[in-house]
Amino acid sequence: MKKCLNNPIFNIISQIADENNLQTFVIGGYVRDAIMERNSKDIDIVTLGSGIDLAEKVASKLGNNVRVNVFKTFGTAMLKLNDLEVEFVGARKESYSENSRKPIVENGTLIDDQRRRDFTINALAICLNKDNYGELNDPFNGIYDIENKIIRTPLDPNITFSDDPLRMMRAVRFASQLNFSIEETTYQALKDNKSRLQIVSNERIIDEFNKILQTSKPSFGIKILENTGLLAEFFPEITNLKGVDEVMGKMHKDNFYHTLEVLDNVAQKSDDLWLRWAALLHDIAKPKTKKFIENIGWTFHGHEFLGAKMIPSIFRRLKLPLNEKMKFVEKLVQLHLRPIVLSQEIVTDSAVRRLLFDAGDDIDSLMLLCEADITSKNEKTVSKHMNNFKLVRDKLIEIEEKDAVRNFQPPISGELIIETFNIKPGREVGIIKNAIKEAILDGEIHNNYTDAYQFMLKKGNEIGLKAKK
Ligand code: CTP
Repeated sequence: MKKCLNNPIFNIISQIADENNLQTFVIGGYVRDAIMERNSKDIDIVTLGSGIDLAEKVASKLGNNVRVNVFKTFGTAMLKLNDLEVEFVGARKESYSENSRKPIVENGTLIDDQRRRDFTINALAICLNKDNYGELNDPFNGIYDIENKIIRTPLDPNITFSDDPLRMMRAVRFASQLNFSIEETTYQALKDNKSRLQIVSNERIIDEFNKILQTSKPSFGIKILENTGLLAEFFPEITNLKGVDEVMGKMHKDNFYHTLEVLDNVAQKSDDLWLRWAALLHDIAKPKTKKFIENIGWTFHGHEFLGAKMIPSIFRRLKLPLNEKMKFVEKLVQLHLRPIVLSQEIVTDSAVRRLLFDAGDDIDSLMLLCEADITSKNEKTVSKHMNNFKLVRDKLIEIEEKDAVRNFQPPISGELIIETFNIKPGREVGIIKNAIKEAILDGEIHNNYTDAYQFMLKKGNEIGLKAKK
């Protein structure tokens, strides 16, 4: 396994460990990734002694400008070397209580340390001491599981998951990231222990969920979360999308699987996490707005507006950022039907102008979401929509070149209206400003000062104002 120890830091750690008679290993994710030839920036070092002492000695060998961050309560220490983070810890044995993720920690042997880890593929250790330099310690057959693409816990999974329920999310995340499958008893334990997720903070859960969303095919992980019951524990709004009803022989599509298809479609085109969130949430209000109307069939009237309204509370509960990222998701959910409605009709300039005005700089993301939303299996329907979208896209470019409404700035200021009509700030100013904006969006006037000035005079006159001479 010497090929995994290319980084010169391993030689230095090896030397210091021997000088101090400390059995020392590199362990965990770094080893897994090195074997799988994936890049990794975090190195975990475990030693049969004090991790903090070893870190301090390594740092002093490396020279003055290397700082050690010591976390006394955890018995760990970290060195930052350029973009590399090396964490040192003493080998330990851990036992957990029923109601907390915080373990009672004692010193232990290497194998004690390996057994307390989450998965066999993360419990591999490579020796750094000179006599056994590069020797692999693999008591739980992690190499076999890497080769066979299996996620499996080193101990009885009920113990591993009950000790730290976040590991259930990690199981799904690693399966998604690495394209592994979850071994049967481990999978069953996810189902049996799902309610233990309740003692994990939403920050931690969402951290893992975001990693699943960022994989190349997010539906893979989300289907496992749904199937094991984990998803319902923290995200019932998504599991509520599942199911199909039938009335008078008419069925609607299963919105859960539709949502996953849209999400995968978006993921093929963009790495933007928040666009993926918008895809995940675009139909979130469908269960709440669902109605069957005779002669029409299933409707989800207003689901885009209600969906947008649901987002702040979902973001707050899940500890997602309540900033412009959330606003972006809200906006996309609210507007997600607009391009498609537009493309079903004759694509008029004013409809395109209004869409541009409402979407602003997010227009490209919105178009991408809308295209991803076409999941019909009917090729004719798909190609009809795609052609219409092409028309909308062409018109968007043409209109933006002509009228620049994407980042609309009113061509006439409130101050100018006040001065022109010699009035006080108040309702009339708003009425005129809004009328100018509407006239521009309707294509009645161009988006420039001269047209807007003339329009202001006309509108002022209509509501009984007189321009100063
Ligand atoms: N670990 C664990 N249980 C956890 C978290 C971590 O057993 N809930 C152990 C695993 O052995 C893991 C190591 O700690 O390999 C380091 O954890 P972390 O850095 O979170 O994960 P990595 O495996 O390095 O993977 P990634 O960097 O992709 O998160």
